[in-house]
Amino acid sequence: METITTLAGLRLALAKARKAGRRVGFVPTMGYLHEGHLALVEASRAQSDATVVSIFVNPTQFGPNEDLSTYPRDFLRDERLCRDGGVSIVFAPDPREVYPGGFETFVEPGELSKPLCGAFRPGHFRGVATVVCKLLNMVQPDAVFLGQKDFQQCAVVRRMATDLNFPVEIITVPTVREPDGLAMSSRNRYLNDEQRQRALCISRALFAADAKFRAGEREVDVLVAIARRHLDQVDPLHYVELVDADTLKPAASPLSHPAALCVAAHVGGTRLIDNVVLNPEADAPAPSKTVPELHWLDDRVQDTLTCDRMSMPSS
Ligand code: PAF
Repeated sequence: METITTLAGLRLALAKARKAGRRVGFVPTMGYLHEGHLALVEASRAQSDATVVSIFVNPTQFGPNEDLSTYPRDFLRDERLCRDGGVSIVFAPDPREVYPGGFETFVEPGELSKPLCGAFRPGHFRGVATVVCKLLNMVQPDAVFLGQKDFQQCAVVRRMATDLNFPVEIITVPTVREPDGLAMSSRNRYLNDEQRQRALCISRALFAADAKFRAGEREVDVLVAIARRHLDQVDPLHYVELVDADTLKPAASPLSHPAALCVAAHVGGTRLIDNVVLNPEADAPAPSKTVPELHWLDDRVQDTLTCDRMSMPSS
């Protein structure tokens, strides 16, 4: 594994990989890696010959009162996890490499960036779209792997890649959860024991609505009300919304298209997000005893992953 900090170095290393005809998979991260990131690496490795992981805490996606300065960092640990995970290149640029003096050009995402987190974090998705655009231009991967936990981010990046003609496949990988249901996030480390216990109400809310959906409930208000009932341990709740999975506009009731039930909430000062996709077009899968968390996964993502796995080259 190589660790590279400059764009020139990255281009040199990737030119060699491309010359050898290798398919490049890319996992953009802000570091402080966890099992969720490693699942992205695993998905990339399964579908690519070389995997690049970027580690860059992107200043432009943080608001003035957000946690940029305290965002958890442990570069040596991240490097070790990447090496153990079979990553080919860690790209860890300096902020000046990404945003050189005089930088003034941004990617402005449209409607998909406005609801949900966009309403609470002005400028956030502009920063995300800009840095992902830049990283895609730097790495020029064949495929980029993003986690379903950041559902709106996936939608914004997918739209940007289509609108700006990036020749890249965008692959969404199901959320990885702690055994008790909490979605993995670098920010979970801010939670003390009592807050972590309270944070569980978020996944519980989503699971409860998902169970009701699987039992046949299709009314949007009913599903949202079920989730809301569990969200009494957060302070404050930013939103619990059921949105169309493609447009992110409020889902029409009764549900007939895939929709995402999305939650954002603070627990003791830490902002957490999570979601579950409710897909009325999918046949209800039989509950699995061996891999319980699969019960909660987005059926479409699961199908994609299964199809991808089935069509993967045996490298
Ligand atoms: O999801 C993240 O960690 C970040 O938003 C990303 C995609 C790496 C862009 O900074």
